[in-house]
Amino acid sequence: MATEPVVYGGSARPPRGDYSRGGVVLADYTCPQNYAAYTPADHETYRLLYARQSRLLPGLACDEFIAALPSLGASSHIPRFDDINERLVKATGWQVVAVPGLIPEVPFFTLLANRKFPVTDWIRKPDEFDYIVEPDVFHDLFGHVPLLFNPVFADHMQAYGAGGLKAHSLGACEQLARLYWYTIEFGLIQQKDGLRAYGAGILSSSGELVHAIKSAEPKRIALDLLRCMRTRYNIDSYQQTYFVIDSFQQLFDMTAPDFAPLYAQLKQNTLDQPFLSKNCP
Ligand SMILES: [Fe+2]
Repeated sequence: MATEPVVYGGSARPPRGDYSRGGVVLADYTCPQNYAAYTPADHETYRLLYARQSRLLPGLACDEFIAALPSLGASSHIPRFDDINERLVKATGWQVVAVPGLIPEVPFFTLLANRKFPVTDWIRKPDEFDYIVEPDVFHDLFGHVPLLFNPVFADHMQAYGAGGLKAHSLGACEQLARLYWYTIEFGLIQQKDGLRAYGAGILSSSGELVHAIKSAEPKRIALDLLRCMRTRYNIDSYQQTYFVIDSFQQLFDMTAPDFAPLYAQLKQNTLDQPFLSKNCP
């Protein structure tokens, strides 16, 4: 592949993934799910991760996520993407497609705009059971795919992809990536029974799921597009700030307008928020 994956958040490690795969990675960075490559240990890792994480969800994950999780299918082994797609296409018209790892912006946005969600097909090693920096099949499937069964969230993800292609043409991908980070990856939602997580980075992490909802340490503020797009983030530590929405409809409505004026405003005021640390007031 001529183009390397792009990672904006701070991290000490480059992304990994076999982007050649003996020629089976296509021009859009998708590839067949390499199901034959999974070992019994890989399936066991998935089973253990799924069991631990699903036990934690009540009281911490949003209602829509908990309701949709069974749609992923088997929890005892890594599911076949084709099986998930039989249900997902019928529910919202989305599909899961396999990728070798993180992919560049334009192919990523193009897939989303076409209601295709790229899922890394390899799984972490046992010594990464508690924490992995980059997405693997557990993060991508367990964290992201259940909410693609929700019609409003599904439409939001497609609109985000279309907006990403526009951001790319305007040189504003880094700003839009922050919105993705603080909503789709690390978003919180206020529900009738309290604060809950809907972001995939939280929902697929046992430590961050508790930290995001229960800890007194992080800030939790209502989603504000400008502030969100000005706030840098670190990809290898718990978040110090979470942005909160009231509903997926609110998220869709907030992010539907043309962001070009916002990007122009951000370029005029180039002072990004610093990396937030424990010492921040
Ligand atoms: Fe993710």
